[in-house]
Amino acid sequence: MTNVVGYEVEGRVAVLTIDNPPVNALGIAVREGIVARVDQAAADDNVDAVVLIGAGRTFPAGADIREFDRPTKEPHLLAVVDHLDSIEKPVVAAIHGTALGGGLELTLGCHFRVAAPSARMGTPEVNLGIFPGAAGTQRLPRVAGLDHALELIVLGKPIGAATAKDYGIVDEIVDGDLRAGAVAFAEKVLAENRPRNISSEPREGIGAPEAFAETIEKYRDLANRRMRGQDSPHIAIESVLDGLRMPYDEAVAADRKRFEVCKNSDQSKALRYAFFAEREAGKIPDIGKDVTPRVVETAAVIGAGTMGRGIVVSLADAGLPVKVIEATKDLLDAGLAEIGKLYDGMIKRGRLDEAGKAERMARITGDTDYGALSDTDMVIEAAFEDLDVKKEIFAKLDSAAKPGAILATNTSYMDIDAIAAATSRPADVIGLHYFVPAHAMRLLEVVRGEKSAPDAIATGMALAKKTGKTAVLARVCHGFIANRSRLPLVREATFLVEEGASPEQVDRVLTEWGMPMGPLAVSDLSGLDVSWRMRRSLADRHDPDERYMHLADRMCELGRFGQKAGRGWYVYEEGNRRPVPDPETEAIAIEVAKEQGTERRDISDDEIRERCLYAAINEGAKILDEGIALRASDIDVMWLSGFGYPRWRGGIMFSADEIGLKHIHDRVQAFHAQHGKLWAPSPLLARLAEEGGRFTG
Ligand code: CAA
Repeated sequence: MTNVVGYEVEGRVAVLTIDNPPVNALGIAVREGIVARVDQAAADDNVDAVVLIGAGRTFPAGADIREFDRPTKEPHLLAVVDHLDSIEKPVVAAIHGTALGGGLELTLGCHFRVAAPSARMGTPEVNLGIFPGAAGTQRLPRVAGLDHALELIVLGKPIGAATAKDYGIVDEIVDGDLRAGAVAFAEKVLAENRPRNISSEPREGIGAPEAFAETIEKYRDLANRRMRGQDSPHIAIESVLDGLRMPYDEAVAADRKRFEVCKNSDQSKALRYAFFAEREAGKIPDIGKDVTPRVVETAAVIGAGTMGRGIVVSLADAGLPVKVIEATKDLLDAGLAEIGKLYDGMIKRGRLDEAGKAERMARITGDTDYGALSDTDMVIEAAFEDLDVKKEIFAKLDSAAKPGAILATNTSYMDIDAIAAATSRPADVIGLHYFVPAHAMRLLEVVRGEKSAPDAIATGMALAKKTGKTAVLARVCHGFIANRSRLPLVREATFLVEEGASPEQVDRVLTEWGMPMGPLAVSDLSGLDVSWRMRRSLADRHDPDERYMHLADRMCELGRFGQKAGRGWYVYEEGNRRPVPDPETEAIAIEVAKEQGTERRDISDDEIRERCLYAAINEGAKILDEGIALRASDIDVMWLSGFGYPRWRGGIMFSADEIGLKHIHDRVQAFHAQHGKLWAPSPLLARLAEEGGRFTG
């Protein structure tokens, strides 16, 4: 299959162009094409050197991940890479866009590498539950040194061209036309009669593992901290170590076996699922490419509270001029000062410099008058969660904002249609539910009201992309997808404490499952009063047949709001965020259990895990069934980006499929019988359990 790899000769240099849109992934046709074209160049008497380049937006961005579910076809990428470096004529890789994974490994088979200044390179395979299986773990240490190689392989973060040059991965950075620069470089190699660099050959300074014990320990430790529970970074380290212990051929033979095991592991399947789920989330069936997002060149945020400030920073970081609207001059000044402090924090952590802060602050202006919004393209309301307050704001926005401006509300659970009805232009109203802290959290829940116009929704999705966020679309219901599906987990966590578990047991079980923090420690962090207020606002809608979160209410009545109060489910020492178990919590739980007639008992870890997770899964199934989420994977993307659900478990719906829907349905039925109405099984779950189906296909 040579048609996906072009062949042209310029002077004495053959230019092989890989053309497999969108990202030139190294599927079987490309692998065969490269081998065929390289052989053609080797046999071509008019050719003395070869340039390998990608057409379109990028050098190959890696192996074709979709092929991982099928048996591997020969030639394996490893054979292609080995074949490249056996060619007697110098081969130059010309890198632009993103040379990732197998793409970077392909360049390591080439004898030289040149790159556009904007090119990025890396080995992100660990994020897919695998490791660079086409000899990257052997060749990269020889090219870049062990420390830099481990940095790329274990952490999976790409680097820019300049860093790659520092690391010795890139020989030359080409300004201007890359292809011409690469051909000129190849001609220079020929003119200078430079020897070919063969990265599979032993390199001085790469020797016995013992000499690198400290470096290896550093990356083991980083892998444990940053990718807790995930196997692939550790397997990658083992593979690199093999390269120190064995000759190249033996090490890559061991890698071949290891790679197959990794690729077929549950973690890799889940991580690959997550990769495609995130890309799928951006696709809305009835909003195709023909729907153009509205132009957003200016933005405004109503309210400079914690959420508003985070949104302002996220917009200003993306280069948008932002107006902040507050009720009074004092509130405005205080809000702007806090925004300055947020940037100071980033400077302290080395993420920004003073010039960067000044640039961003210059984009942020403030006003107390809605009249200032007359030329703004998008207004995001981030006021107090009170429906009447929000309706009032939207009525004012209706008079103040220009025609066609997007009017977005950041509510996390309220009825967007009721808010939209306060305006004469409900088609322009959407929900943009940010997560705290809004400038740092990746998730943005875009909520589609009954009357939201398709291009208004497309604008929300585009804003997410522009601000570096993952957008997921939800329909209107109380709590939308994210909060509605998470609430049952938190609810069960608090019921379990009432029934006899300790907060630390509940949190431990869920962190052992892979969550970064337990739900009760998270409640302490975000404040128990937030959901207390919500419960109180819904008091008149509470169904008396449903079990109620009395214990959580009692904690708030006692002022145990969490970290900010120094005590919640745990206690906190002054200036310390570490949760410390508190016997008083147990005493309160005993008291509430007595009042409610709840029998206290020993609770097993299994019950905690099942009740917390299955409650969320059952709700997720209802959300899916009701059409609030377009697809099960959208719910998973929310949990991955919004709640730190372990990526290597795919998300709650994927986990459910892996556990088995029949088992989950049986357990949900049992909990329903035991704990009542809140556990009513989702009809979709019941049906799929019966049919042996899955949520996630
Ligand atoms: N295989 C198959 N499809 C891929 C792909 C890959 N390696 N990389 C991207 N795609 C697809 C995406 O699914 C998407 O498809 P749809 O349009 O149908 O949704 C399309 O290409 C465009 O991708 P993005 O939407 O992600 O585009 P972007 O511009 O935002 O990002 C990118 C581009 C940085 C390359 C990003 O796609 C990415 O990170 N890709 C994965 C890179 C990677 O992990 N490479 C290692 C692969 S494993 C490997 O190489 C193993 C080995 O050692 C042999």
